[in-house]
Amino acid sequence: MTETGRPDAPNLADAAAHIRSAYVHIPFCARWCPYCDFAVVEGRDDSTDRYVRAVVSEIESEPAWGELGAIFFGGGTPSRLAPPLLGSIVEAVAERFGVADTAEVTLEANPEDWTEDLASGLVAQGFTRVSFGAQSFDPVVLTALGRAHTPDHIVRAVEAARSAGFSSVSLDLIYGTPGESMDSWARTVEKALGLEPDHLSAYALTVEPATPLGMQVRRGGAAPDPDLQADMWERAVAAAESACLVRYEVSNFAKPAHACLYNLGVWAQGEYLGFGLGAHGFRDGVRRRNVKRLDTYVERIESGLGAVQGTEVIGGWAAEIERLMLGLRRAAGVTSGAGGEALMASDSGKRLVDAGVVGLSGDRLVVTRPLLTDEVVRAVLALGEYP
Ligand SMILES: C[S@@+](CC[C@H](N)C(=O)[O-])C[C@H]1O[C@@H](n2cnc3c(N)ncnc32)[C@H](O)[C@@H]1O
Repeated sequence: MTETGRPDAPNLADAAAHIRSAYVHIPFCARWCPYCDFAVVEGRDDSTDRYVRAVVSEIESEPAWGELGAIFFGGGTPSRLAPPLLGSIVEAVAERFGVADTAEVTLEANPEDWTEDLASGLVAQGFTRVSFGAQSFDPVVLTALGRAHTPDHIVRAVEAARSAGFSSVSLDLIYGTPGESMDSWARTVEKALGLEPDHLSAYALTVEPATPLGMQVRRGGAAPDPDLQADMWERAVAAAESACLVRYEVSNFAKPAHACLYNLGVWAQGEYLGFGLGAHGFRDGVRRRNVKRLDTYVERIESGLGAVQGTEVIGGWAAEIERLMLGLRRAAGVTSGAGGEALMASDSGKRLVDAGVVGLSGDRLVVTRPLLTDEVVRAVLALGEYP
């Protein structure tokens, strides 16, 4: 699918349902960030070759499928692996399913790992898009987040990605770290936009219970201030829009033709395969998730058991509820349908409409106050069984 129009266009959002994609999880990290609740392993770089062999074998045992339009390598820190190792996974996907010439092939990367050689090696292996975990341009905030990079690393990483030929460069930022002021955040956004990224993600720092940050907050340590975070989000939206980046999801902004196809597909209830530990997939109406522990994952694949830990059939009304939950995160909203009608007829739905949080725009249900999306999603979930 080629994307030419605005990243928030309804036809783009809906057409993404037809993108077939794959998510590949690479769990290795030099160190575990204290706020991170993703499936990561620290100090296990001795297992990377064996892990990649297991992922390749998982790919080879997946039933054949149509050609893929997007592959997303998330982490963890995919950029810790040498390009030929990541390339062997891209090749396995291409051999098993086929990958469109126009496919988006993304990896997440840490700025401190990134070099010109790494960047050109990755382009040679078929990567087209990189998403850097920049998080902040304030050294004090980076230290508070437990990050190993400096603002200079981010600048050099973006330059190296561009000169190596990446066609899309994205930056992830986190706002609301305890101690981060509005001034610091405004400077972070300004410096990020000054690098002219094609795509920007700005996430509110979330305190996940099973993390060192979660433990610190439970013991009475400083927590993010939600009111300040709301103001910070507004600041980011205004700055990004004046830099011609269009907000197409609650936390995601892109220049035309640079919305993340993989994410668009997931939000449109498109199908995707999940490979690697902790990965999720959604195919033929079945959602499945893999085991989360590194050793368990590798041993199960090596002994031919497969890595799937659980499956869930998503059909009927459950699929309709999920369609709304995913679609409402997008600026384009979602066609109203039976779920939208049920929401508008429910007490909590009516309250949200009266409060100007959600409304109909033609036949589409759109969240008009994106920061309150979770409230709308809760109201959708509360619809429960088919009315
Ligand atoms: C799992 S990380 C992997 C990419 C890369 N290794 C890194 O550390 O940036 C993906 C992104 O999730 C976001 N993230 C992870 N944990 C978060 C949290 N607790 N609150 C907000 N954003 C978070 C960060 O912006 C990060 O860039």
